[in-house]
Amino acid sequence: MHLRLTLLIALLLLSGASSSPHHMFPLRLIKERARSSNNTAKCFQLLGASQSGLGSMLNNWFMRIGLLRLEAPDAEIYLDWSHTHYTCQEEDDLSRDPIQDFFQPTLFPPWLKSAAGAGDLAAKGCIGIDHHDAAHTNRAYNKPLCKYAANATSTERGPRWLAVKRALLQAVCPAVVGLWRSLHPSLQAEADAVIESLPEEPFVALHVRGGDKIKEYDGRGQRLETDHSLLGGMVALATRHPSARGRTCVVMGDDPVLAELVIAHASKILRCKSFHLRLPPRKKKTAEPVGHVQADFNAAPVEQRCNATRSFITDLNIMAAAPYFVGNTVSNVVSMAFWLRGCVHHHDLDTLFDGDGYTDWWLWL
Ligand SMILES: *[C@@H]1O[C@H](CO)[C@@H](O)[C@H](O)[C@H]1NC(C)=O
Ligand SMILES: *[C@@H]1O[C@H](CO)[C@@H](O)[C@H](O)[C@H]1NC(C)=O
Ligand SMILES: *[C@@H]1O[C@H](CO)[C@@H](O)[C@H](O)[C@H]1NC(C)=O
Repeated sequence: MHLRLTLLIALLLLSGASSSPHHMFPLRLIKERARSSNNTAKCFQLLGASQSGLGSMLNNWFMRIGLLRLEAPDAEIYLDWSHTHYTCQEEDDLSRDPIQDFFQPTLFPPWLKSAAGAGDLAAKGCIGIDHHDAAHTNRAYNKPLCKYAANATSTERGPRWLAVKRALLQAVCPAVVGLWRSLHPSLQAEADAVIESLPEEPFVALHVRGGDKIKEYDGRGQRLETDHSLLGGMVALATRHPSARGRTCVVMGDDPVLAELVIAHASKILRCKSFHLRLPPRKKKTAEPVGHVQADFNAAPVEQRCNATRSFITDLNIMAAAPYFVGNTVSNVVSMAFWLRGCVHHHDLDTLFDGDGYTDWWLWL
């Protein structure tokens, strides 16, 4: 009897259903902050980023829309895709709403709209929010949450970070679900086709991010030692879920050279029985930069950008659906995987692993 009770409690703790007094606290922090923003505007226009990646832009949008819904629940939110280079039409072609290359705005929730064709939103009193405004305001929420999680004994810190992540999902998921359910069905079909081509059993998704992201790691103190090869995260995954070994490993990302290192580690640590690769081809000239470089992407012909955008969204949907996932959380792509896995696929939080094995949220931001 006692053993059963102990097991039950252990299970409850593992599944995160613990009724610890701290459980609801981070959500309260988020709601208090939203209230104290005194945001009374009735209309917002979220401007797409022109100099940032699509992962970064959508990650900012998800969080800003989710938090705006708490700050100003009655406001209308307009999404403005016109400044991005993620498109399937020439920039001077105004005959079509570029957001429709990827989303169906008619399926947005009633409080969310496309800015195209909505007239002069500034003249209607809408507040414009650009990429940096959005990031700045979102980060203001992270500060008290990080403080709450970090200011605890070492045994309590883990559960607190989990509670913070759950609270963020609770706050942001309505935005994520609202936007993602309007994704063009042909994009979801591309991801489904890849997943259906894999054996019918759990698979592991690995995201490789090199290119211009490598420089960004330099500013993150504890990441100085990393070789970006996901080794720490694969070890953490194999330890936490031994059944993740011996599966199909889907390797996605931007850097085919770094991917070779990742694949070597995955063969050894995860003993993948087969690999499914979604990587760009190796460059012929070694002097050419490897991996995603935003300025080069922006200058590429539209057909190439269109294909790359579709392929990127397909990658996101595969990462979202994967039973297990490892990626470097410095990348916004992994933040996207976090939201989609939690909000759309309802995966447990302990199925997403940082490439260096970190679990603290502050390293992610
Ligand atoms: C919101 O209003 C309260 C009460 O008037 C004030 O103390 C607080 O500083 C305001 N918040 C912001 C972000 O302006
Ligand atoms: C940190 O925790 C202690 C003990 O619970 C508390 O007294 C203190 O106010 C907290 N500090 C911050 C900055 O939250
Ligand atoms: C883009 O994708 C289409 C359809 O798959 C293909 O026919 C075309 O060659 C691709 N173009 C580029 C530049 O990759």
